[in-house]
Amino acid sequence: MTEYTVEFVGTGETITVSDKQTILKACIEEGIAQEYSCRVGMCLACSAEILEGDVTQPAARGLTDEEAERFALTCMARPQSDLKLDRGVYPPSIEGDAATAGTAADDD
Ligand code: FES
Repeated sequence: MTEYTVEFVGTGETITVSDKQTILKACIEEGIAQEYSCRVGMCLACSAEILEGDVTQPAARGLTDEEAERFALTCMARPQSDLKLDRGVYPPSIEGDAATAGTAADDD
């Protein structure tokens, strides 16, 4: 098991997360107010932008391959290096869903 430092920019919070643990689980254990909902990689509520470092998140089904390069779903993501993350930053596809829903409502 390897442990990495995960820093949340803007808040100054830093935690240690093992490569066997999800970032969300470590946040909950450390009392960090990371948003989440589904905890199965679908809703994007737990998203964070990856500013530095690498994660593995093969089960992050809510992200496109391109988004998974830049965003971590913390409920699924395990660190592969020290990380700098910006919590509460969402991938463009979440905006697309909202826009589509709005358009559908307007058509009714
Ligand atoms: S909590 Fe839903 S994708 Fe992580």
